[in-house]
Amino acid sequence: MCGIVGYTGEKEASPVLLEGLKRLEYRGYDSAGLAVRNGAGLTEVVKATGKLSHLADKTDQGKALPGKCGIGHTRWATHGEPSQVNAHPHVSGNCSGSASGPVESEVVGVHNGIIENYAELKEKLLRHGYRFYSDTDTEVVVKLIDYYYHKYKIGPVDALTRMMVRVRGSYALAVMFRDYPGEIYAARKDSPLVIGVTEQDAYLASDVPALLKYTRQVYYMENLLAARVVPGQVTFYDLNGDEKELPLTEITWDAEAAEKGGYEHFMLKEIHEQPEAVRSTLASMIQDGRVHLAETGLTEDVLRDVSQLEIVACGSAWHVGMEAQYVLEDLAGIPVRVDLASEFRYRKMPMDERSMVIVISQSGETADSLAALREAKSRGIKTLAIVNVIGSTIAREADYTLYTLAGPEIAVATTKAYSAQLAALDVLAVELARIRGKISPEQAAEYLTELQGLPEKMARILEEKERIQWFSSKISNAHDIFFIGRGLDYAISLEGSLKMKEISYIHSEAYAAGELKHGTISLIENGTLVIGVLTQQELYEKTVSNMVECKARGAYLMGVTTHGNYNVEDSVNFTIYIPKTDPHFVGSLAVIPLQLLAYYTSVARGLDVDKPRNLAKSVTVE
Ligand code: AGP
Repeated sequence: MCGIVGYTGEKEASPVLLEGLKRLEYRGYDSAGLAVRNGAGLTEVVKATGKLSHLADKTDQGKALPGKCGIGHTRWATHGEPSQVNAHPHVSGNCSGSASGPVESEVVGVHNGIIENYAELKEKLLRHGYRFYSDTDTEVVVKLIDYYYHKYKIGPVDALTRMMVRVRGSYALAVMFRDYPGEIYAARKDSPLVIGVTEQDAYLASDVPALLKYTRQVYYMENLLAARVVPGQVTFYDLNGDEKELPLTEITWDAEAAEKGGYEHFMLKEIHEQPEAVRSTLASMIQDGRVHLAETGLTEDVLRDVSQLEIVACGSAWHVGMEAQYVLEDLAGIPVRVDLASEFRYRKMPMDERSMVIVISQSGETADSLAALREAKSRGIKTLAIVNVIGSTIAREADYTLYTLAGPEIAVATTKAYSAQLAALDVLAVELARIRGKISPEQAAEYLTELQGLPEKMARILEEKERIQWFSSKISNAHDIFFIGRGLDYAISLEGSLKMKEISYIHSEAYAAGELKHGTISLIENGTLVIGVLTQQELYEKTVSNMVECKARGAYLMGVTTHGNYNVEDSVNFTIYIPKTDPHFVGSLAVIPLQLLAYYTSVARGLDVDKPRNLAKSVTVE
């Protein structure tokens, strides 16, 4: 989704802004732009469609845009097609908006989010003489701020807070006012915004990697706050215009954690970081052979009292929920429902007041997951967030927060955050099982030891990646791929299929193996690739039979199974073996060959692995 950056201080702003936007490229974008205030007090805007390098070329790497205060934006189109005129920054003046150059406008702004009532506001502004050059909701907001600023003859903060009570939707906004040189004003609701301050400068951005080169001390801006950002200082204001203190957070992870570190793509690097991501997450939850959840706020009494779990999430995080459902129900004997966050909020199913809603999210900013969290809270249901990004909105708003320690994940296709989430839920399942008396403390300790053995087994699978690379080049021209499995293997198939389709653009579907014959098997024809996940021993033969049924109709078969099941080769054309572990936790291992398969297929097809078309890392719109 859109990325915003801002800088004011002693340095030239444009190179800092371009560098910051580069760090936010992973969020996905179709156009980009800068607005920089030059020494003569004029603001100059430059926009370009396509890659950030087009904007860099257009501004001679920023040199053609002098000035020490500016804002920048990468746009992921929501309202209006990707085009130069719709690209940000947007201005309050009645102009064509597409041309680059100095602008006469009072207010210039960039925005990440969606303004839901923009049409109604646009009508109002049209009646007051404003003219619009773009199709964007952002132009409406910028003009609304300008309207309040002039109508009430108030300062920038008051103009922003008036705008904030009038608009519905989500926004992280950075704006500059002609009358306030060297100052950037910001506002936030439901879209992330971090601000970093050093002695001489101040930076703002949608995400930490854009600031890390300059500072490790950041403020995570809270919802419904405005801010005045000047060199060396930031002041936050609530909707009444009263100053508000925010805690300063030290970023402890390294800038290199957000770099490729010698790997060709972030995704490959992050696939290889999975053993460490899982190890760190487990280490934060298990101490001296026992589960420690003190930092989450969860107590044994809270967990004992829970009558049922409702897991809500999107995409891969939803797949983690699907997988954890089997483990939680089997180990802890607790009823679990798993819902897509985008559906959960519109279902009015009855929920026991002793239920707990678990929201899983890497970014902690996914709009649908956030809305589901708020829906649960509004119904008085306890909420637990399992989140990777520290200080994110979901993490802050949940009653209890469990952080996964995967580190920054840049590739759009999640890998290490997925694995860390799964490990966290496995530990939670063991703890719930112990607290609820379903397993003894000794059995719990054994399960925890088994989990702690996973990182080393994951590393072993990664050592054998060449075979998968070879197979990927063989199947890279496939038109359709079906991933099938039963029980927990079905949940693993869901993730394998999503990974494949999102980065290789090959049509793929995950099916519960037993369901194939109820319709989908009609799609199997000569050469269709069917990938069977075969890790659950008691379901193994049934799924192999379903695969053989496909083979009889021309399918080419690949299997993922545990070492020992070597007779699978009698039926299947290509097999990947994974180390043995407790069947509850095998998903952490089986997913790795499927991630690698998707990765190498995408590379073989020459695609943009880390930034697949139409996708964004953090989906902050509904
Ligand atoms: C997975 O590879 C995706 N890119 C996507 O499905 C993602 O898992 C989903 O958008 C949820 O994101 P979140 O974990 O940040 O909430």
